[in-house]
Amino acid sequence: MLKIQNIAVLTSGGDSPGMNACIRSITRAAIYHEIGVYGVIDGFNGLIKNEFKPLSYHDVSNILQRGGTILGTARCKEFLDPDQRKIAYTNLKQLNIDALIVIGGDGSFKGASIFSQEFDLPIIGIPGTIDNDINGTDYTIGFDTALNNIVQAIDKIRDTASSHHRVFLVEVMGNNSGILALNAAAASGAEEVFMPERQEDLTLFEDKIKRALAANKSSIIVIAEGDQIGGAKEVYEYLKQKGLTDKVRVSVLGHLQRGGSPSFKDRLNATLFGEQAIVLLLQGKSNLMISITNGKVTSQNLAIAEKATQPKNMDYLKLIRKLSVY
Ligand code: F6P
Repeated sequence: MLKIQNIAVLTSGGDSPGMNACIRSITRAAIYHEIGVYGVIDGFNGLIKNEFKPLSYHDVSNILQRGGTILGTARCKEFLDPDQRKIAYTNLKQLNIDALIVIGGDGSFKGASIFSQEFDLPIIGIPGTIDNDINGTDYTIGFDTALNNIVQAIDKIRDTASSHHRVFLVEVMGNNSGILALNAAAASGAEEVFMPERQEDLTLFEDKIKRALAANKSSIIVIAEGDQIGGAKEVYEYLKQKGLTDKVRVSVLGHLQRGGSPSFKDRLNATLFGEQAIVLLLQGKSNLMISITNGKVTSQNLAIAEKATQPKNMDYLKLIRKLSVY
């Protein structure tokens, strides 16, 4: 086993439920192997600004069940600058930190991968984003909790939608990925889903809404935010021009999707991923992302995360449509 004195851990990009469970697992596994742990404040910003916090066994007590991230997070543009990365490396070396663990999404891994190669610093990435849109892993920490948040919100919207026989356009997050939308739509019995990947024509919504209104039935249409059409408000404007919005309402779920106590699945995966990151570092591994494939925790080259993801479970779309023919 490689001798590692100290490691640092940071969370980067959008926070996701389960990040704290992962920080706990990393810290406790490291302490078990007699490795010191520093938490970096606010992602890569903390590396540059020299903001580190030593993490003891008890510092990570009672955080497993909390949403968000106790370390803070950010999207750090400065880290794209080689001079800033040099400052970050100098700060790490001053504290005798031999390795870094980055919990975040593909954007965070891109910066981490460059940094690792530039300074020959061992880095392990752990996928943490509600979007579940990272290539090379079936799962990212936070996805399950966000889905539960969305499904619960849609259940509530359904109560009022059915009382008024209304159509709701429910916008969910996803950062140009329809994975959250597709899974949430299938599990909440939505009548239609719009995914940016499909580039579908808006006339599809028009037909669906006309049929729902003709039947005097409520309907839920899940729309993933994305560059192609924007979101639910844009679809509403389109329908307004067609004179179809009398019984249509918009609900943008927003950041409530990202908050709250992590689900069982997120706590467990976060705990498994965190410990595995320490195991890999002790084996002298670097530039890897912890991943899960067919239920098994494994790892991939960090560079694989840079490739575009293909949405999984596209067959859910057929299912949603099959079960919602008016
Ligand atoms: O990547 C996670 C995510 O929640 C996306 O789904 C969403 O597009 C984005 O972050 C929102 O970012 P912010 O919180 O910075 O508005």
